[in-house]
Amino acid sequence: MNERPSDDQGHDVTAATPPGARPSSRPKVVLGVGGGIAAYKACELLRRLTESGHDVTVVPTASALRFVGAPTWSALSGKPVSAEVWDDVHEVPHVRLGQTADLVVVAPATADLLAKAAHGLADDLLTNTLLTARCPVVLAPAMHTEMWEPPATRDNVAILRARGTVVVEPDEGRLTGADTGKGRLPDPAALYAVCRDALERPGQQPDLAGRHVVVSAGGTREYLDPVRFLGNRSSGRMGVALAAAAVARGARVTLVGANLEVAPPAGVDLVRVETTAQLRDAVLDAASAADAVVMAAAPADFRPAEASGAKIKKAADGSAPPLSLVQNPDILAGLSADRPHAGLVVVGFAAETGDATGSVLDLARAKLARKGCDLLVANDVGDGKVFGRDDTEAVVLGADGTETPVPAGPKSGLAHVVWDRVAALWG
Ligand code: CTP
Repeated sequence: MNERPSDDQGHDVTAATPPGARPSSRPKVVLGVGGGIAAYKACELLRRLTESGHDVTVVPTASALRFVGAPTWSALSGKPVSAEVWDDVHEVPHVRLGQTADLVVVAPATADLLAKAAHGLADDLLTNTLLTARCPVVLAPAMHTEMWEPPATRDNVAILRARGTVVVEPDEGRLTGADTGKGRLPDPAALYAVCRDALERPGQQPDLAGRHVVVSAGGTREYLDPVRFLGNRSSGRMGVALAAAAVARGARVTLVGANLEVAPPAGVDLVRVETTAQLRDAVLDAASAADAVVMAAAPADFRPAEASGAKIKKAADGSAPPLSLVQNPDILAGLSADRPHAGLVVVGFAAETGDATGSVLDLARAKLARKGCDLLVANDVGDGKVFGRDDTEAVVLGADGTETPVPAGPKSGLAHVVWDRVAALWG
């Protein structure tokens, strides 16, 4: 049997590799490591990349080698490691590495590295590689908040993003020492997911660079009292896949997450919400400055007319308390009808089972017209399909009458089709 390498989520990592190719044509990744304390986390990223079948060359900076030594990188990658352009000069590594890579990822990227990359400085092997790379480039900055926030760093990040470099937004949290704030390197697992998504479109540049997109994900909860709620089965996987794909394609992503059952991807601005009202406020707030809103969340359509401030007690006579519900606002329909600006592309999802009045597609077409959005992703959710699963099958319906069937596969595949359709609408 001809087994193709896959990662721990079953993604085929040889998407760029022709069938039958020898291991040397595994996706080539250059892992650049900058001089920050988070360099130790890059060891875990390296392991994930090599164990999932990638051919990784580690290129640390001289400062990175003060944190984690060359023997560690060499042992984990199975290759010699150099920070300089003066080793193996006959192989012209300062140009070859960037030219032959399928992906260059730098983790951690220091403020100094961002500045050099933005301005084309090339004084060591990593900066030469960044200058000559023709493939997607992912930079994962990590630094103290005081170094992330100044205009010089912000401008460098903006320059890089405008050029199509994926600059992963750092996490907030504990930094080196006692301080906390924005600047933490995201978890290696989340960074690995960004790399995998960036490699999913071999040979294609991040085409959403410079765009700001809003994705809602998960299912909202409507509280009856402080401990009980009405909810639904949405896990947030589809929205998280959409957000991850958009990050990998260079977009700035606001993820409005309602009770997510899965970890949010690296590099998003995460707004956590619980109820439909909170989801609506967060989506409308972010939409005014966004280029697209994708409503993958399942907002509860109804909420209790009154939520009790105290836990509702069981009645001694065994009777159930009366439950009176009111309808929640339809966020998608409201946003489509009252767009904050004309260029906003609005995408909805339709979770349908089909019924006596029509098939899944009939109902989805009617929903597209009713909600007034530009695209609607029609999902058949009957028989336990879709909810809580990593794979899906759908048809993307356009307000212009176009229909794009997406065969069964990982949710990341559907996510990329959605962004293709959104990008086409932007023109
Ligand atoms: N949606 C929304 N606000 C709501 C309910 C749904 O914005 N209050 C959005 C969802 O995020 C999704 C789309 O509308 O993108 C369709 O959701 P779906 O549950 O399929 O449809 P409903 O509007 O709830 O209609 P129905 O349950 O009657 O099929």
